Amino acid sequence: MRGIEEFRYLQIEATEWRRYLHRTPELEYGLYDSAKFVANKLASFGINHIETGIAETGVVAVIQGIRGDGPTIGLRTDMDALPIVEASNKPWTSENAGKMHACGHDGHTAMLLGAAKHLANTRSFKGTAVLIFQPAEEAGRGAERMVQGGLMERFGISRVFGMHNMPGIDIGKFGICDGAIMAALDEFDVIVKGKGGHAATPHLTVDPIVVAAQIVVGLQTLVSRNTDPTEALVISVTRLEAGQAYNIISDQVAIGGTVRTLSPSLRDFTERQIKVCAEGIAHGLGAEIEYKHRRLEPLTFNHTKETNQATDAARGLVGDGSVNDRVKPIMGSEDFAYMLQARSGAFIFLGNGPSAGLHHPAYDFDDEALPYGIGYWVNLVEKSLAV
Ligand code: NI
Repeated sequence: MRGIEEFRYLQIEATEWRRYLHRTPELEYGLYDSAKFVANKLASFGINHIETGIAETGVVAVIQGIRGDGPTIGLRTDMDALPIVEASNKPWTSENAGKMHACGHDGHTAMLLGAAKHLANTRSFKGTAVLIFQPAEEAGRGAERMVQGGLMERFGISRVFGMHNMPGIDIGKFGICDGAIMAALDEFDVIVKGKGGHAATPHLTVDPIVVAAQIVVGLQTLVSRNTDPTEALVISVTRLEAGQAYNIISDQVAIGGTVRTLSPSLRDFTERQIKVCAEGIAHGLGAEIEYKHRRLEPLTFNHTKETNQATDAARGLVGDGSVNDRVKPIMGSEDFAYMLQARSGAFIFLGNGPSAGLHHPAYDFDDEALPYGIGYWVNLVEKSLAV
């Protein structure tokens, strides 16, 4: 195991890469410049197996250890930015109007590049490390597309690991947990159908706004009265569309929202019960509903053995006290979940200090975190592909 001091030599260079990527953010699958930058850097490290154009702009690099045969592990980073107008006021602020690295994927990419440079020079492990630079994490399900395109089989990957920076965790600290670490994400629509009319004669109508108001409140009882209080469920109504005039009762209201869960059974339950609850309220008040439910992202579920390997790699780097192996799960979602459905693995949080939150216009990845992420990846490869 290598301590953090062994990776500080990469900080200046990795900071340059990170700030270059920050200045030139790209979205979804359109990461043409970012992918080119990554592929050129990888080639400059002497890596001779680099594949580009995987899921359009994904890049994969293969580094062989020199300590003999062994398994193949995948290390995954995301590379895409967000459609946000930057307000960080940093000298390296976005030069692409309306696009911004507000989730730190610039830092993630720079850290995996740093690990690539170190691993390509040392190769002090058995087996093979496959470095996965993924497009379209924020939107477009890039991980799913890479998995469906046969990534795991093609490169013989048997275990896979991911990392995300986390504001609120100190620089130099890590958080991880066995089992669910990020939530499953669903969306739903409930269309309430009543009977419109003159606002002065409500008795001649079925007012869908009153029905919808009851449904919005009613859905919260699924959280507060139908779910085990020690389990996590979020139902947020985030859209409400109805009527345009002051003197007309409209005939329809559209309710939309999102559901976050940390267990498959609660996810199934919520999908069923939103309909039961909304329909029951609507029928009781003389209205009808139409219900649509979409499952968007799976649960990000860490496997026990790989969680232990990840925890050991981080502890070897920064010491036992700087790695919380029972971090609280986050109710946001992450498309690395698709890779964890395909292979065993683990996802870890890396401290980004007291920065603005993820997806905030003032957010910036903290370059002080770079050597920690680099060191984690190297330790993970050297430890789990033991010398
Ligand atoms: Ni992110």
